[in-house]
Amino acid sequence: MTTSTQWQLAQEAAERYQTILTPAILGPFAEALVDFAVLQAGEHVVDVGCGTGAAARYAAQMIGRSGRVMGVDINTSMLAVAQSLPAVHGAPIAWREANITQLPFDDNGVDVVLCAQTLQFLPKKAAGLAEMRRVVKSSGRMAVSLWCAMGESPYFYTLVETIARHIGPETAAGLQSAFALSDTDEIYGLIEAAGFKQIEMTVRRLDLPLPHLTEFIPRHISATPMAAGFNRADEMVQQTIIREVLEQLRQYTMNGYTSIPFKSHFIMARK
Ligand SMILES: C[S@@+](CC[C@H](N)C(=O)[O-])C[C@H]1O[C@@H](n2cnc3c(N)ncnc32)[C@H](O)[C@@H]1O
Repeated sequence: MTTSTQWQLAQEAAERYQTILTPAILGPFAEALVDFAVLQAGEHVVDVGCGTGAAARYAAQMIGRSGRVMGVDINTSMLAVAQSLPAVHGAPIAWREANITQLPFDDNGVDVVLCAQTLQFLPKKAAGLAEMRRVVKSSGRMAVSLWCAMGESPYFYTLVETIARHIGPETAAGLQSAFALSDTDEIYGLIEAAGFKQIEMTVRRLDLPLPHLTEFIPRHISATPMAAGFNRADEMVQQTIIREVLEQLRQYTMNGYTSIPFKSHFIMARK
């Protein structure tokens, strides 16, 4: 299996994504993006590239029973996990398998499109943004999150750099691809070219209390497209990677408690 740079995870990896990555990193950022979008009761929200649905579920709670949420993803394994999770108190959520570049919705029907850590993986980013704009009401808005440059998030940087050095850039690309759209001017230009107006960009830093790193690092790798390359590596190499990452992140652990900064762009734009 080659490394997927578009996060096309198989069923077991999608389950690991939900149990390992969502609580530790993606979930807090998905919820922060929903807060940034300032959802109103009763709104119709679409979460594109919903994965296992962290933003969709939190949005459903924010907009209440009079609202509607649709989670859209191209990956059936991610959607299967999203569907298997307990229902939340709030708006009903429907899950749809679709490509962001061909959204199965009418024009001008959605109050808010959320896109959490997904736009960077689209080979056709302009087409994806055009679709998001098409489905949003003229009074509607789009809220997008995209990781800042990898060097701004020391955990990601250290892990990718160490895996690239000991295993190779092809395996590291499985996580590095998440930073393919991090440049402020490039992001702004793409969104403006898609026809969006009133584009606001900000950087959100979250200091996340990661679980004990010795166990978390290999578990995290297993929930990313780096898993296949890491599993093929010699056990000595795997142990060396974990040891070096731990050493380089030592400054973030005090009294047994680890808290590491992660930075993401948050972008709001109107039709
Ligand atoms: C890193 S995950 C983010 C998932 C979720 N938004 C979150 O914050 O946890 C990226 C997601 O984008 C989805 N994806 C990638 N390309 C897509 C496309 N063209 N159309 C729809 N979903 C896509 C992947 O299947 C994956 O679930």
